[in-house]
Amino acid sequence: MNILLAAAEVTPFAKVGGLADMTGALPKAWAEEGHNVIVILPLYGTIDVEKHGIVKTDMLVDVPFGSWTECAEVWHGMLPGTSIPVYFLRSSDYYDRPGIYGYHEGFEDNDRRFIFLSRAVFEVARALDFRPDVIHAHDYHTAPCMPMLKVHYHHDEFFRHTTGVFTIHNMAYQGMYDPQRAMEFCGFPAKEFYTGSWYEQDGIFNAMKAGILFADKITTVSPTYAQEIRWTPEGMGLQGALQSRGGDVIGILNGIDSSVWSPLHDEHIAAPYSADTLKKKDINKRALLKEVGVSPAEIKRDLPVVGMVTRLTEQKGISLLMSSIEAFVAADRIRLVILGSGETKFEDYLLNLAYRYPHHVRVGTGYNEPLSHRIQAGSDYYLMPSRFEPCGLTQMFALAYGTIPIVRSVGGLSDTVQEYDPISFTNNGVRFHRYTGDALTHAMDSALRFYKKEPHWTHIRRNAMACDNTIAATARRYVEVFGWAQESQR
Ligand code: ADP
Ligand code: GLC
Repeated sequence: MNILLAAAEVTPFAKVGGLADMTGALPKAWAEEGHNVIVILPLYGTIDVEKHGIVKTDMLVDVPFGSWTECAEVWHGMLPGTSIPVYFLRSSDYYDRPGIYGYHEGFEDNDRRFIFLSRAVFEVARALDFRPDVIHAHDYHTAPCMPMLKVHYHHDEFFRHTTGVFTIHNMAYQGMYDPQRAMEFCGFPAKEFYTGSWYEQDGIFNAMKAGILFADKITTVSPTYAQEIRWTPEGMGLQGALQSRGGDVIGILNGIDSSVWSPLHDEHIAAPYSADTLKKKDINKRALLKEVGVSPAEIKRDLPVVGMVTRLTEQKGISLLMSSIEAFVAADRIRLVILGSGETKFEDYLLNLAYRYPHHVRVGTGYNEPLSHRIQAGSDYYLMPSRFEPCGLTQMFALAYGTIPIVRSVGGLSDTVQEYDPISFTNNGVRFHRYTGDALTHAMDSALRFYKKEPHWTHIRRNAMACDNTIAATARRYVEVFGWAQESQR
């Protein structure tokens, strides 16, 4: 199958969160199954072209945009360790600036930047003579590819067999744009925008809604989230649009790339280990504590280490953490190691906590990929008290590293973490339901009871490591859905 994946983030070139992990890992898994894959993303000013071996091609694409045509350079690179081509769209007007989205509210012209990306996807495919069986778009950024396929390329011989599949990674960001601008940039007649139309939500243009309604199939990143977005406020206003697509909305659980996330082959960690050599996890724990500045005398005093690697946003339950965690720290029950960046109020809170409890709380702000691996390997527990969580990858990394997840049972967290049962010794973590500080405190208490308590400690860690969340199964499910999309188009 010819698969064209278009996204705003792809690891290792441009990453803010798990979207990049998925768009970087899926193409590799598809290629291993014999599919032809190309990836398209913008050449942001932050991408290190030399480091990644990205070179300029002599291709210049003309992109119809509004009633005019704009031009973009096409640069070429490959997903690391593969020969999968990645085409980077270079435009000094749109992408050649620091940052992917811009701070806080984002760049003012994000509508233009991402609508341009969506339209350019088709012209790059044509210039490459790559006839996609499927265009796989991700989140609101490339959602406009879905209506564009049906409106502009429906009668185009080149795209005659092309279907559109749209994957939702997060309903919280929908691409809500000024309708006049967005309809014009997309090349859609202004009169097609009216109350109740496929582009309209609450009076403005909604890229996510258009993606949902025009795609041949819609997927989201876990089965539970697929239900939540249809039937609960997690649909963030688009429940009706999703319900109208009935069985076309499919939950496919994310997976992890075990060439990057395996404790036995992880080049970033002090002592690689497997389920049979779990003792070595202690070496990683001590190395982590040393790295984050805990004194040698303190390191000798063994306490459970709770790790987190996260965007610091409301989604990730940082408010809950704020109402519950200090008591554990103050009572000398845990050490907390957090790597996170995001909202200032959360960063300030954590830095202040670290200032007041320097032996117990260590906080890294900013983005640090190698440290994120060492936190997974060196922590005993991994905390994810999310308010909502479409899937979540970091709890899957934690499981693979024998680090026990403590999670709120929502979205993908409830699909991947099951409450450990001390009678049958089954399952892999600790969960809580209510979004309250008390519920989190209770879950922490339960989890800490198993710390180094045999036989539970060995069972729960081995159960975690035995979970199979690898990307291969995820990738196959996508191909199955691509097949359904093709059937429904015939
Ligand atoms: P989300 O996409 O909602 O942020 P996920 O759990 O799906 O959540 O994915 C987050 C990804 O971003 C993981 O790969 C995680 O390790 C990574 N990550 C988040 N914050 C940081 C950080 N400060 N430094 C390094 N990696 C980070
Ligand atoms: C989003 C979600 C996260 C998911 C990731 C990759 O950013 O917040 O839960 O794992 O996308 O699909």
